[in-house]
Amino acid sequence: MLLVAVCLGILAVAAADKKPCCAPPQWEGLIGETIGGDHEGKPWLLQEGAQLSVSWPDKKMNVMGQANMTGGTSVMFRVILDYKAKQQYTIVHKKCTKAAIADEMINGVPSNATYAGTFYFGAGKDNELMFDTWLVKYKGMDFQSELTTTVKDCIPISWFAFGTVNKDKLIETVGFVNVTLGIKDNSVFTVPDICKKASNEYPHPVLAGMDGMFRLKL
Ligand SMILES: *[C@@H]1O[C@H](CO)[C@@H](O)[C@H](O)[C@H]1NC(C)=O
Ligand SMILES: *[C@@H]1O[C@H](CO)[C@@H](O)[C@H](O)[C@H]1NC(C)=O
Ligand SMILES: *[C@@H]1O[C@H](CO)[C@@H](O)[C@H](O)[C@H]1NC(C)=O
Repeated sequence: MLLVAVCLGILAVAAADKKPCCAPPQWEGLIGETIGGDHEGKPWLLQEGAQLSVSWPDKKMNVMGQANMTGGTSVMFRVILDYKAKQQYTIVHKKCTKAAIADEMINGVPSNATYAGTFYFGAGKDNELMFDTWLVKYKGMDFQSELTTTVKDCIPISWFAFGTVNKDKLIETVGFVNVTLGIKDNSVFTVPDICKKASNEYPHPVLAGMDGMFRLKL
């Protein structure tokens, strides 16, 4: 019995020792995102497929893709996040709106995340992908998320979150696939001219409901 307790104790210490990691400074990938919510008793679903580019040195991200909403609404969108200028630009139907970003940029695992374990996908030699699992709680909110990253290089694999945001119950999952290192074309971070006269109104209502790990506006 004592031995078991000691082993568990050692495991707990080892687990607590693994520190949140940072993703590579520049990377790109495809994201698939599904958000389900309940707004005043009405369920809704949003599905999104997009290309993501992240540059830590530039403190910028670009997300470009399509979002489909319950009821058949579908929009092509682009969101540029400029964390240095603390501005987010959202382009939908050739219309650009901007909004202030309050949060700091996170590239990888938030520093307050708790390590929850290491596992692998696949099976057999040369066919195992090791990944770490992390838990994040949100201050003063009934909201939490779980993030998985590859053990090697801390590449995001998935993000899962659930809780209550503005009285709406939300559940969200994001998968990151086909990730490549570096930025192929730096112009993805260039804010287009139509955004120079952008209004400060809230982004498109479809996009207002979206909150990905990297554009989390809770
Ligand atoms: C959105 O809907 C269109 C038309 O049905 C479909 O081709 C596309 O794959 C959907 N996109 C996502 C991200 O679900
Ligand atoms: C952890 O960090 C995230 C991202 O910065 C933040 O939103 C969240 O409130 C923090 N959680 C706690 C418990 O402070
Ligand atoms: C993702 O990567 C695989 C393997 O390289 C490739 O076959 C596939 O076409 C890629 N998917 C997209 C949508 O680019």
